[in-house]
Amino acid sequence: MDTPDVLAWRDGHIEALDQTALPHQVRVLRISTVEALVAAITRLAVRGAPVLGAAGALGVALAVRQARREGWDGPRLDAEIQRIADARPTAVNLRREVAVVAARVPEGEAAVEAAALAVMSFTTTASYEISRRGAAYLRDACGPGPLRVHTHCNTGSLACLGWGTALGVIRALHEAGGLSRVIVDETRPLLQGARLTCWELDQLDIEHRLVCDGAGPFLISQGLADAVVVGADRVAANGDVANKVGTYGLALAAHWAGIPFLVAVPESTIDEATPDGAAIPIELRADEEVTVPAAPVGTKALNYAFDITPADLVSAVVTEKRLIQNGQWLTRQAR
Ligand code: MRU
Repeated sequence: MDTPDVLAWRDGHIEALDQTALPHQVRVLRISTVEALVAAITRLAVRGAPVLGAAGALGVALAVRQARREGWDGPRLDAEIQRIADARPTAVNLRREVAVVAARVPEGEAAVEAAALAVMSFTTTASYEISRRGAAYLRDACGPGPLRVHTHCNTGSLACLGWGTALGVIRALHEAGGLSRVIVDETRPLLQGARLTCWELDQLDIEHRLVCDGAGPFLISQGLADAVVVGADRVAANGDVANKVGTYGLALAAHWAGIPFLVAVPESTIDEATPDGAAIPIELRADEEVTVPAAPVGTKALNYAFDITPADLVSAVVTEKRLIQNGQWLTRQAR
């Protein structure tokens, strides 16, 4: 069976692959209201920074249609668009692309839809360029391989459209015969690595091994990876990186092991307005995601969904336009 599109605009509705159902069920959501879109984003049916940006862009088009259908006034439309932007706080792509498309609202529905579709299109195109450039960086840094690459969370087409970011880099290495295998963190508590990355790697026929998050840094210390490559939800102006919780430990381990730690992102994930990692809002999610089913009833959790990796631990950030290596962040402070 052909896999449906990760995200699409069809007849004035959003269609999205429900990422909470994968890998066991392939289910498509048809989203017609702002409320349904916000719910899909908050429960992570639609997720991953670049896809959040694209979904936010389509969400503005959805809101404009709903405003016409339901007779909303201007302030109500603005408030509904803001709800989309605020659905998740850490990935800057969401609020950035919502703002880009919302700026076109005075030009009317057709202009808004065209702007939203343009976001979809450049998000897809950027992923191929990021993949190609990231693979070239790893070949330069590590030699021709075949390389063993460690990754975290899910950064493939499910999260980014196209080939993805970090997983796109891995795919580009594979296509060029430069990949030995991928080590995939399971990515507690919602298991994006186990459920989604392993599913994507299976479909691509790419050799991989799934490991517990806690094992990752140790496996790197034992020489089981030649490089670590991850995506990001936001890169601050000084180069600090917010990504799925567990990333920081991999960066520390890569630093100690002397292997490259590459962050692959579209330009839209770099947030010049956020000076450093301390200013990035970290999403705190429900306790139950961590406590159920294993902990005693009533156990409280600290469910930080993301962590911050200081710029000093990042070997390079690759985007569709540039390769930013340590020391090239204009605003970078001496630590
Ligand atoms: O909570 P999620 O699943 O949306 O988190 C996703 C990640 O942390 C990804 O690594 C990040 O968005 C980069 S996707 C290219």
